[in-house]
Amino acid sequence: MCGIVGYLGEQEACAILLHGLRELEYRGYDSAGVALLEASGLRCFKAVGKLDNLAAKLGDTASSGKVAAIGHTRWATHGKPTEANAHPHGLTHSQVVHNGIIENYVALRASVATAFLSQTDSEVIVHLFEKHLAAQPPAADTALAAFRATLDALHGAYAILLISETAPGQIFFARQGSPLQFGLGAEGCFFASSDAPLIGHCAQAVYLQDGHWGVAEATGVRLFDAEGAAVLPQPAALPATSLAARKEGYRYFMEKEIYEQPQVLTDILTGRLAADCLSLDELAPEWLRPLRSITLCACGTSYHAALVGSYLLERLAQVPTKVEIASEFRYREPVLDRDGLFVVLSQSGETADTLEAIKLAKAQGLATLALCNVDNSSIVREADHRLLLRAGIEKGVASTKAFSAQVLTLWLLALYWGQAKAVLSGERLAQELAALRQAPSVMQVQPGVHERLHRLSKRYLHGHGFFFIGRDLFYPLALEGALKLKEISYLHAEGYPAGEMKHGPIALADAQLFTIALMARSCLYDKIKSNVEELSARDATIIAITTEYFELADDIIQIRAYDHPMLEFFEMLVVVQLLAMEIAIRLGNDVDMPRNLAKSVTVE
Ligand code: AGP
Repeated sequence: MCGIVGYLGEQEACAILLHGLRELEYRGYDSAGVALLEASGLRCFKAVGKLDNLAAKLGDTASSGKVAAIGHTRWATHGKPTEANAHPHGLTHSQVVHNGIIENYVALRASVATAFLSQTDSEVIVHLFEKHLAAQPPAADTALAAFRATLDALHGAYAILLISETAPGQIFFARQGSPLQFGLGAEGCFFASSDAPLIGHCAQAVYLQDGHWGVAEATGVRLFDAEGAAVLPQPAALPATSLAARKEGYRYFMEKEIYEQPQVLTDILTGRLAADCLSLDELAPEWLRPLRSITLCACGTSYHAALVGSYLLERLAQVPTKVEIASEFRYREPVLDRDGLFVVLSQSGETADTLEAIKLAKAQGLATLALCNVDNSSIVREADHRLLLRAGIEKGVASTKAFSAQVLTLWLLALYWGQAKAVLSGERLAQELAALRQAPSVMQVQPGVHERLHRLSKRYLHGHGFFFIGRDLFYPLALEGALKLKEISYLHAEGYPAGEMKHGPIALADAQLFTIALMARSCLYDKIKSNVEELSARDATIIAITTEYFELADDIIQIRAYDHPMLEFFEMLVVVQLLAMEIAIRLGNDVDMPRNLAKSVTVE
């Protein structure tokens, strides 16, 4: 998730912008920049890496007098983390910062005659603005009219701040699908993509709605809706502290990240789904098509995502798929298929075992792909190709949104590969595309369900252990649910294929054994039902996650019914994530930083 800050006033702007960007560091980034519009003209400073690099570039640069200033931290989605790709992006008179994805940027780039300096989608905004500026008759609000004409051409998600020498003392802004807010304080007008940078400068903020745009100037802020009608700003109180602001009202980063999942899935799908097909710009079909097999390799939660991917890839792309635990793979002396694709999954991109695994595969001549949440990480740099997860920084040690991002990205990869091999019927592809479009809303936390899990969690704070059981796609989900629970509650939990319980583990069944049964209606329901009946007959305590009443369950967490197993999967995922969190909270554990664990395991 990129970060945006802006300031219009007479205070020294570099310090204000840098402070604001530091308040946004938790969102993760790989480059940063600022632009200052003063009486002396427009200046821009950019740097790759951390904000200290930008501060070093700024040195003792200080703005003087009235200034319109914008700043940005970039989380790469289009184009590697380089200075040219860092924001702000400028042209002759103007500079722009942008959060989001401009879906039609390729067509828009072709519509302007000016040369581009970056690989980003964002840069097209300033080119369009200056093209419209040149086309406008000179008038009082020429720049405002050019800005509106620019917005009318954009498709996709954006939060924008733009400054121009043709409009001194003004900051143009717009919001569509990416958060942006502003506050008016004693020192001037402050913009940010979230609350933290505003705190301390103003007491209230105006949270822009989709379609809102306008201009900040010395006399105040002019706000308009998508139709150009004036809108009266509605300020709201800001959180008291920036830490509270970073958690944006949630108790833990893990909770916030669970609630962010719908937006993450939306961001992953943005620009990739057409009416009857899908695209992954990062992977040419001709590169995928000849590959004869696939090996997915990862650790922990990422390994569970890989397991889900293996079902999807074999069904949708008909590609023989193996899944490996990286720490085992690297010492197993594996015999690899040189015509195969080796895929590593990693949220951090720094997991030692996974990094060594991809090096081993490359040494044996395999094509490699990394699904990763951190561009420019060691694993991304090692891989031939990469699919970035677009999940934004994940602070909670227990991975949540990165897992759902990995699963959705693997689902896209499986469909894209199946489409490239022409092994999917038009009807099947249409069904899959329809389900993909529904995925973000399915992950919306149902308030009633969260409240029920909070109440239910008091019953499951002891016992001699938990079994999470599922079949097919829901077996890896059982593994993931068990890992979430044990890593933050410290209670013992195992994930197991439901059909395996009778081959030994059922010996543990008694009233103190809590079985979380993932009873998907759309996937082998009768099989999982009989497995649960075997456990219930031996007095095991059953918590069923399912779509309707199940008489043998001691507790039921009801989810909505879907005709596609992946939608049931995503809704059940939210349930097991919240269940683990609510139990851990009742036990008084540090949900975000559980004992003995690190967010990135960079050692063997
Ligand atoms: C998951 O909740 C854990 N934090 C852990 O299993 C993690 O998934 C594993 O260490 C792999 O990390 P990575 O995805 O960054 O490679």
